Amino acid sequence: KRPDDIAPKLLAWYDANARVLPWRAPPGANATDPYRVWLSEVMLQQTTVAAVRPRFEAWVARWPDFAALAAADEADVMSAWAGLGYYARARNLVACARVVASEHGGRFPEDEAALRRMPGLGDYTAAAISAIAFGRRAVVVDANVKRVVARLFADDGGQARALADAITPDARAGDFAQAMMDLGSGICTSRAPKCLLCPLRDHCAGYASGDPEAYPPRKAK
Ligand code: ADE
Repeated sequence: KRPDDIAPKLLAWYDANARVLPWRAPPGANATDPYRVWLSEVMLQQTTVAAVRPRFEAWVARWPDFAALAAADEADVMSAWAGLGYYARARNLVACARVVASEHGGRFPEDEAALRRMPGLGDYTAAAISAIAFGRRAVVVDANVKRVVARLFADDGGQARALADAITPDARAGDFAQAMMDLGSGICTSRAPKCLLCPLRDHCAGYASGDPEAYPPRKAK
């Protein structure tokens, strides 16, 4: 039960069970469009996959790439965002598209540190884009990933980044990140996790403890 075995098992599970989502490469293709990855990750920051899906489709039909969004009227963009909340995200999308167009020749930089300097991109988004759009190794930590690693290692939640780093593979880091998200949203759910369906059950200290829901501990107020 070596930690090195976790990524191959999870990736094999992902190959068979990945959710088909409009910002992911279609099965079999291995090209992901950085514009679509970026837009989806920003939309998904505070909004569920189910709510994002139709809004994402409408958005890319109207503004299919950085150049189109950079040229958009900001008021149109703000009204297209209506209902998604946290409007700073929409303002930053336009600002970021304009920086990509004017300072980066229409393309995103590929490494995490350079992405981190773009308008609106935080640690999570920069890592997610670097891994998912460009295939770079980056450690992507969102709420699902935090819960999954806390359970795998029976951790109190304080070591999430280091634990995620320890199991992130050099190859397919983007698929690995998305596999962790799919596992967390469909199987390793915060309540009533479906451990019998989990590809990582044999590696999971939380499962072995008999009470996986105890990880990470809920914060006392
Ligand atoms: N939540 C945030 N990013 C996601 C992604 N790429 N796939 C599925 N769920 C996500």
